[in-house]
Amino acid sequence: MQGLTIKDKAQIALMRKSGQIVEEVLHLMERMAAPGISTLALDEAAHNFIRERGAEPSFLNYRGYPASICTSINEEVVHGIPSARTLIDGDILSVDVGACLDGWHSDAARTFLIGNVSAEVERLVRVTKECFYKGLQYAYEGFRVGDISFAIQEHAEVNGYGVVRELVGHGIGRSMHEQPDVPNFGTKGHGLRLIAGMTIAIEPMINMGSAAVSVLSDGWTVIASDRKPSAHYENTIAITKGAPLLLTKSPDAVSRGGGS
Ligand code: MF3
Ligand code: CO
Repeated sequence: MQGLTIKDKAQIALMRKSGQIVEEVLHLMERMAAPGISTLALDEAAHNFIRERGAEPSFLNYRGYPASICTSINEEVVHGIPSARTLIDGDILSVDVGACLDGWHSDAARTFLIGNVSAEVERLVRVTKECFYKGLQYAYEGFRVGDISFAIQEHAEVNGYGVVRELVGHGIGRSMHEQPDVPNFGTKGHGLRLIAGMTIAIEPMINMGSAAVSVLSDGWTVIASDRKPSAHYENTIAITKGAPLLLTKSPDAVSRGGGS
């Protein structure tokens, strides 16, 4: 795997450009994902969108992966392969998207609620997103990878969920996977020290039940071994001298008038 690389501001700006495409694809996927649509239709739309923007889908042909996005339904954790399967009311769908523009990769994932999802599954999806933000609180110079990892693990486990161990976040840049690994479990104060110019994908994969996973016979699809639902939330970020930059997500709109 590519080692650790430090990016300058201009390089981070280029990564934001590929990240902008990933962000827009995820918004398109959110609008399209509804009961009755096939995951192959989502893949086609994502593929076309990425190509129209002058980028390449990072995942297509990566180690032989046969599609442009990953679509993982319910107990599927990650790396679900788009197919003729159609979404149904009550499903959750994780969509993972990577794009490469002018040689720079970005990678992000969201889990969408399809129609009416049970309150307990909705909570899993919400807590998984919160896990990302818990980790992000430590994505500052001076902290270590283990601080991010620990924060994610703690939030998942206090909520009674299992943290997937077999797959981890990662450095990213001219390669989709670079050093360092960014596990979703770990020990405060341990691991690589973070410095400005590191770009990493933080991507909690959280199971409603046990943390154990298996791989289906297609060689790709990772499922929760107990077949309970699993959620995924990921952004590519840059460590800076100040607050981390989200490269695959625009800053949230600040609500006006009252509130904290
Ligand atoms: N987004 C995944 C990751 O972060 C990459 C998908 S693997 C692929 O590791 F083979 F599907 F491309
Ligand atoms: Co990733």
